[in-house]
Parts: sequence; C-alpha cells; structure tokens
Amino acid sequence: MRVGIVVLSVLLVTGIVVVRAQQAPARGGGRGAGAPAAGQQTHGNLLQVMRGIVYPASNVVFAAQDDPATVKPADDPSTSPNPLSSAYGQWLAVENAGIALAESANLLTFARACSNGRQAPVGNADWQKFVQGLRDAGMTVYKAAQSKNVDRITEAADAVATACGDCHDVYREKTPAQGGVKNRCIAS
Ligand code: HEC
Repeated sequence: MRVGIVVLSVLLVTGIVVVRAQQAPARGGGRGAGAPAAGQQTHGNLLQVMRGIVYPASNVVFAAQDDPATVKPADDPSTSPNPLSSAYGQWLAVENAGIALAESANLLTFARACSNGRQAPVGNADWQKFVQGLRDAGMTVYKAAQSKNVDRITEAADAVATACGDCHDVYREKTPAQGGVKNRCIAS
C-alpha cells in the first residue's frame, strides 16, 4: 500500500517535470508568456496571421467609412468572398470584422515565429499593450457598427489604424539603418 503511494507520487512528480520541460521552449524566451493552453495550436508565422486574418478584417473596417448600408449584395451573397456584400453583409459585416480583430488579438499572444525566424516578442510589456490596443479598437468597431453610424465607424477605423501603427512602428518598420526585415520582431 505505502509502496504504491510512493510510486504514484514519484510518477506524478516526474510527470509534472516532463510537462514543464515540454512547455519551456514555447514560452517566448522563458518570460512566462505565450505558452499555448491545452487544445491550442499555431499554424502560421506572424506574417501569415497578419496577411490571412488581421489585414482582411481591417480592410472591411476601412471600407466601412463609405457607408456599408450602400453596399450592393453580391449576385449570390451566400458565396461572396467580400464580407460587405455577403449574406452577413453591410453593417453586420462590420460588426463581424470588429469581433475578428478583437479575437485576432488573442492570436498575437501565442508563441510563434516571425517571418525572419525570430520569436514574436509576446512576453514584452509593450507588445502586450499593443495587443490590448488592437483588442480595444476591435470592440470599438463592434459597438460603432451596432449603432450603424458612419461618423462613429470613421472614428473607430482611426482607432484601428492607430492600433496597427503603434505596434508596427516598434516591431515591423525597420529601415536599412535599423537592419531591415531581419530585425523585425525586436524592439528598435
Ligand atoms: C502587437 C503588434 C502588432 C499589431 C497590433 C499589428 N501588427 Fe501587423 N505586423 C506586426 C509585425 C511584427 C509584423 C511583421 C511580421 C513578420 O514579418 O513576421 C506585421 C506584419 C503585418 C503585415 C504584413 C506586412 C508584409 O511585410 O507583408 C500586415 C499586412 C499587417 N501586419 C497588418 C496589420 C494590420 C492591418 C493591423 C491592425 C488591424 C496590424 N497589422 C496590427 C505586428 C503587429
């Protein structure tokens, strides 16, 4: 009986050590942020997440400054690749783009590589502040779209552009003097 308990405790302790060891490389340089929770997986580098998810959603918001209610539904809205003319189109598409941006902020907290092979700096305090900026801007869009008010969506689009730019200024835009693309994802 006692031996059984000892063996079980040893197994448990060993198990915990093994799990910790496996998580360690995903922790953004050991800063304790970015380890995926159970069930989460990453599939793209940061550039691909930007191009595939963040950028298309933001374009819906920027286009909405021309009054989404005037967008003509596509011939077959159910298959339209343009959210604004799709079955969930016009202002609803703008609401959804706000949610997409706010949710995509979560994707920017996961440990993943940048296109130059560096790790996205998800443990950095300013990165986390910029991610929160994107989250807030997304929810500002969501609320503005619910109000169906073009002035409010124009202000919200401005908040989105600021949220993108704040992070890009530090982590994306690298002049040749700053080392160019190979120095993306490190603070300037
Ligand atoms: C928290 C930081 C952060 C935020 C917020 C952010 N980006 Fe990015 N973005 C980056 C970084 C870093 C890169 C470079 C990624 C790489 O090269 O792997 C990038 C790259 C991109 C690219 C690809 C550029 C290229 O070279 O092809 C696009 C497009 C983009 N971002 C759009 C946006 C838009 C639109 C927003 C706002 C809605 C946004 N991003 C918000 C950090 C951010």
